[in-house]
Amino acid sequence: MNISLKGKRALVTGANSGIGKAVALALGASGAKVAVNYIVHPEAAQDVKQTIEKEGQEALAIQTDVSNPSQVSEMFSQIDKAWGGIDILVNNAGIDGKHMLSWEADIESWRKVININLIGAFSCASEALRRMVAQKSGVIINVTSVHEVIAWSGYSAYTAAKAGLSMLSKTLAQEAAPYGVRVLSLAPGAIKTAINQNVWSNAEALHDLLEKIPLKRMGNTDEIAKMAVVLASDLASYLTGSSVFVDGAMTDYPDFSHGG
Ligand code: BGC
Repeated sequence: MNISLKGKRALVTGANSGIGKAVALALGASGAKVAVNYIVHPEAAQDVKQTIEKEGQEALAIQTDVSNPSQVSEMFSQIDKAWGGIDILVNNAGIDGKHMLSWEADIESWRKVININLIGAFSCASEALRRMVAQKSGVIINVTSVHEVIAWSGYSAYTAAKAGLSMLSKTLAQEAAPYGVRVLSLAPGAIKTAINQNVWSNAEALHDLLEKIPLKRMGNTDEIAKMAVVLASDLASYLTGSSVFVDGAMTDYPDFSHGG
């Protein structure tokens, strides 16, 4: 089945590496115009932009710190100026944050994770919804994680942000549904990117991780990107408010495969 997003105007945050990059490229390959948001490594963002352009689609590279609401509003003005609005927002920008037990955490590091992963996503969603509700169409995909439902010792800010983002999707989905706008969460499991390089580059840590995944392998960024294209398209026209887990069954309590 061919999925065409021809003429759709998309913004992917954190799109110069990892899952965001794969999503931006896949949306472009499906015919969408893509704004590639980034904060560091401008050359990587330019690379994604040029790859999309080579395939015949329009692209923008926009440097914006999503945790800064006035920068976010400026980013949306730039997209308005180029394309007159937005049809697809993928809130992907995020960080795991430092590993720290809650009684050792410094509040500034904790707040930084919430500011980027949750408040940043809210600012972008709010700007996007203003436009989508007015035009009575659009899709917002919030990239959460299996950690919207699985606790993770040492990462309380991350799990709180991802669980919060999941409930944010559901609430925004309720608000936007009467206007024909869909909002949902895409929840990846362990996808091989720079964010978890410390795990996959260490044999013992990797072994431990694979024990937590019934499919017994990490996912790759394309497996998330393909699902993002489906969710952004009319194939998913009845899907809103839900979390779609793409995780090799990591959320399936793998320990129960041998007794209970
Ligand atoms: C994290 C990764 C981790 C995965 C599974 C993701 O949300 O960003 O670092 O490997 O969850 O635990």
